[in-house]
Amino acid sequence: MVKAWYMDNDKTDPRAEHQRNPPEFISIEELHRKTGVELFKLDLKTYESEGVLEKIKKDRGYTYEDEITISKECLPDYDEKLKSFFTEHLHADEEIRLVTEGSGYFDIRDGLDEWIRIKVTPGDLIIIPRGSYHRFTLDNNNYLRARRLYEDEPGWLTHIRPADDMACRKKYVEQQKRGFSSEN
Ligand SMILES: [Fe+2]
Repeated sequence: MVKAWYMDNDKTDPRAEHQRNPPEFISIEELHRKTGVELFKLDLKTYESEGVLEKIKKDRGYTYEDEITISKECLPDYDEKLKSFFTEHLHADEEIRLVTEGSGYFDIRDGLDEWIRIKVTPGDLIIIPRGSYHRFTLDNNNYLRARRLYEDEPGWLTHIRPADDMACRKKYVEQQKRGFSSEN
């Protein structure tokens, strides 16, 4: 089960949990209402034979994919890449990741600009909405492997905050005010 919580304000070691004291967990439903993040749990033993991912890809129009392994051994420019992953940014397209090995944290801002941390582990398919400010870090296991899905071939760009004038950002802010209800 995916776990999400509000982060403390400690700026040291991003790979630590950064729970508040006392911890402030939030449910997956609340996470969606506050950020628009969508989460699916896939059974990695059966998802391919049962066509679960294929259905999600078809339903949501994901036509392209690749794979990333984030570890010191496998990722070229590892330190630089991790630094850029953890720099607050947005994209004009969804960011879609199916974690197949390892673990890590996606952080996303709520409507009051507070960080919410989402722990992902194998079988978690996470969809970060277009226009949302977010970032990613490994946890202390220092390893994550994921399938990355795209609506098109990955031409998508990273826009470092501030990017408040972008149309996708303005739309996201409106959706966030409405709690990502279904009429969006
Ligand atoms: Fe991103």
